[in-house]
Amino acid sequence: MSSIQQDWPEPIVRVQSLSDSGQGVIPERYVKPLGDRPSMVSSAADVDIPIINLGELYSDDDRVRANTISQINHACRDWGFFQVVNHGVSPELMDRAREAWREFFHSPMDVKQKHANLPTTYEGYGSRLGVKKGAILDWSDYYFLHYLPCSLKDYNKWPLLPSDCREVIDEYGKQLVILAKKLMKVLSVNLGLSEEYLQNAFGGENIGACLRVNFYPKCPQPDLTLGLSSHSDPGGMTLLLPDNHVPGLQVRKDGSWITVKPARHAFIVNIGDQIQVLSNAIYKSVEHRVIVNPSEERVSLAFFYNPKSDIPIKPAEDLVTREGASLYQPMTFDEYRLFIRLRGPCGKSQVESLKSPR
Ligand code: OGA
Ligand code: NI
Repeated sequence: MSSIQQDWPEPIVRVQSLSDSGQGVIPERYVKPLGDRPSMVSSAADVDIPIINLGELYSDDDRVRANTISQINHACRDWGFFQVVNHGVSPELMDRAREAWREFFHSPMDVKQKHANLPTTYEGYGSRLGVKKGAILDWSDYYFLHYLPCSLKDYNKWPLLPSDCREVIDEYGKQLVILAKKLMKVLSVNLGLSEEYLQNAFGGENIGACLRVNFYPKCPQPDLTLGLSSHSDPGGMTLLLPDNHVPGLQVRKDGSWITVKPARHAFIVNIGDQIQVLSNAIYKSVEHRVIVNPSEERVSLAFFYNPKSDIPIKPAEDLVTREGASLYQPMTFDEYRLFIRLRGPCGKSQVESLKSPR
């Protein structure tokens, strides 16, 4: 695959500026083809992704613990998405992290522009994913940064404002890594592997973690566009802190789109492509997208827990033996994420392309 070019193919337009301009019509570049537009027909209002009380993993009662572990297994198999409450991350920190980022996006444009990103590493303030000239774009701006490994963590690439931003991100990252490690153990056991299997396959203590903060400005024509096009997350596992007021995340389930109703102070957890590969597709990364809103902006924090970037990721040997065939060819995460960095969000086409020839 060709390497990433040094600059964006077209001048960058901040979606927030378009939104603030007050125009009633969105530029054609954001108008999705008919089949990709958010359908106004929503699925049954009472359908939602499972909610799991993680506190029960530490119950004194063996049955309660076993039941929680089993609920996580079903959520991973049936949905690839679930919410967790009682997860150990401080609710005050969650609120502060979201609000700090909201303040960042509301700071003056020249402050934000100092962090403008490039397609080489994507770190900083961005407004597109993919470098295809003429591509139809999504209705969002974002900020992307590395939290781990330490060699990639660079405070100079983090925002300066608000003044406690760096401190808050640091603490937020620390608590989310603890939560992610906990979940990796449960997933490993549920797959019939040793408790440390997934963490070790990800590189042990050398895993990667990054944060993508999404800012979805108000949109005058929300039925024509998307805040984020359908995709599966390329990494290992995602811990999403959604907006506390405005829904928008939709998960694909049996062909229809389900709008997630976030529970208070919950994280939305989803399986990424690397766990689909490691589990030999016992767990699948699931397509999701974001719809936008005419009267409310939305902020979300996606924390991506990823394998160390230079180790080949392939199905666990035990699972291959059990199932009789390895479904995927090995690939490093460095190589894998070039797909989305070049082409932008494209449903599940990336992980499909890894399928072993038959
Ligand atoms: C993502 C993502 C969902 C959201 O950043 O990969 O899917 O609700 N975000 O912002
Ligand atoms: Ni995603």
